[in-house]
Amino acid sequence: MTYRVGYIVGSLSQRSINRRLAKALTKLAPSHDLELVEIPIGDLPLYNHDYDADYPEVGKQLKAAIESSDAILIVTPEYNRSIPGALKNAIDWASRPWGTNSFNGKPAAVIGASGGSISTAVAQQHLKSILLFSNAAVLGQPEAYIQFAEGLVTEDGEVTNETTTEFLSLFLNAFAAHTKRNLGR
Ligand code: FNR
Repeated sequence: MTYRVGYIVGSLSQRSINRRLAKALTKLAPSHDLELVEIPIGDLPLYNHDYDADYPEVGKQLKAAIESSDAILIVTPEYNRSIPGALKNAIDWASRPWGTNSFNGKPAAVIGASGGSISTAVAQQHLKSILLFSNAAVLGQPEAYIQFAEGLVTEDGEVTNETTTEFLSLFLNAFAAHTKRNLGR
């Protein structure tokens, strides 16, 4: 069985290293019974709860994309030791209107790249806390902090280092098993 995973890239940058990492994961995924499909977040306006009375189409589409996915993968940079505002905004949109939280019970995993020696560790702690509050079933292990050096992943998502390829495969394997366990199918 192949699970359909909706993935969100936390960076809106055209040159994003996390988008490159997502591309690499998309290529490796089919060998692990996963199909990765992007859920875009770049067109969402800033959320406020006045929208709840008449939810805009862009918010409904985000919610539908999450709800129709078997699982959710978030690939994100760290901004100032937390998650980018654009990603938090998307999670806020998906969590509302009250009582219709799209993450409820959804298997989820988090991964991210940065050039720093602790990579995106602190952002991921914040993100996991937000996802747990949203009642997603968050993968605990392996933690996936990718220290990105130029050339590690090419523009078209080829990983140039064997150790990293093996680690990403291990991560995807664990995510597929976690999804299966949580969905019971
Ligand atoms: C950063 N960067 C960064 N890196 C890090 O390891 N920890 C951090 O807290 C931050 N903070 C931060 C804030 C802001 C506003 C920017 C623009 C950048 C550096 C960051 O990891 C680097 O720019 C990555 O390339 C961003 O990921 P994308 O957009 O290339 O995927």
